[in-house]
Amino acid sequence: MKRKTALVTDQKALLHFDYQATTPCDPEVVDAMQPYWCDYWGNASSLQSRSGLYASAAVGLARDQLAAYLRVNPQRLIFTSGATEANNLALLGHARARALEVGRPGHLITVATEHQSVIDPLIQLQREGFRLTRITPSPDGLLSCDQLLDAFEIDTILVSVMMANNEIGVLQPLAELGKLCSERGVTFHCDAVQAFGQMYFDIDKIGIDFLTITGHKIYGPKGIGALVVKSNLPLIPLQWGGGQETGLRSGTVPVPLAVGFAKAAEITFQSLEKSQARYLYLRNQLWKRLSLELPDLQLNGSFDQRLSNNLNFTIPGIKGSSLHRALRSLIQCSNGSACSNGKPSHVLRAIGRTKEEAEASIRLSIGRTTTIDHINRAAHLIVKTVRDLRS
Ligand SMILES: Cc1ncc(COP(=O)(O)O)c(C=O)c1O
Repeated sequence: MKRKTALVTDQKALLHFDYQATTPCDPEVVDAMQPYWCDYWGNASSLQSRSGLYASAAVGLARDQLAAYLRVNPQRLIFTSGATEANNLALLGHARARALEVGRPGHLITVATEHQSVIDPLIQLQREGFRLTRITPSPDGLLSCDQLLDAFEIDTILVSVMMANNEIGVLQPLAELGKLCSERGVTFHCDAVQAFGQMYFDIDKIGIDFLTITGHKIYGPKGIGALVVKSNLPLIPLQWGGGQETGLRSGTVPVPLAVGFAKAAEITFQSLEKSQARYLYLRNQLWKRLSLELPDLQLNGSFDQRLSNNLNFTIPGIKGSSLHRALRSLIQCSNGSACSNGKPSHVLRAIGRTKEEAEASIRLSIGRTTTIDHINRAAHLIVKTVRDLRS
């Protein structure tokens, strides 16, 4: 018990700059979920019972709300356990369905900087006989239309490109890429986990066929996400059972989490413009201070085509392990994805950083409670740490 208290206290003392890994659950979200644990605890599939009807209505409302923010028909939204499952469902489910239709596996395209939950299912599909092209983006992290055009093959069935990168924050030119896919009848999957709630986008205008989102990046609960599916696209489920979610994702829907996810989206979208302007100001102040005092810092990823809450840079001439060890007790930040298991970032390697440079890099991400005081303190601590390590 004592140990737990100590951990909580330590966390509060740290400056938190890792909001792209996850976010705390908003207290309003916790309140919205609360009745569905013990009062309205029915199974949303048990429509013959009153408690089941309440639960079903709550899930239906959550689906409607989320769909409204995405500007899609609610029937297109399938609840999953998170983005990892949604990515797996879209990629494995669609590629396998297409292979079944034509009697052979086809060709798949993605970008080398995708999240592991996209890369790994695609590697699994390679094992199953599909061919995979992983495009290396340019050093600014962006994929060009020409690169995608070059990668298409006669039997390309699917392209997967994320909207905003989770490490370097870059925003891919999705509308142009989506157009190229739809012109060729190629399915376009997009992991929009980091972009959802940070910017407005129109799935149908971009031409996205499958879209992945998750709750815990927008101050919602962990353990819930969704896949938005364009109607009539073939999809083989990953799991079989009760046939929930129109048979595409069997398993009892976690009612409190669905309600919380929708509430988190509501809060996020209510203040999207305001929070974006604030993030942009804070992030730019941070970069201004850091790059002024450490002029040799190397920004990772395009500065202009970038999420407003993200900064990622390499610090030349210092050892990554020493840097992160020194910062660990001061600032909560990361040197890659939360899912990278401590390996040098494949994203930074793909944009041309050496292993050593990738290790000596920092991702800082800003959240709702970040203030200018936090920015000034973080800048001061990073500059001091780097100077100490260099001296
Ligand atoms: C871009 C991206 N995709 C997928 C995921 C996985 O999300 P989840 O934790 O909901 O499975 C993450 C989370 O780190 C992410 O940043």
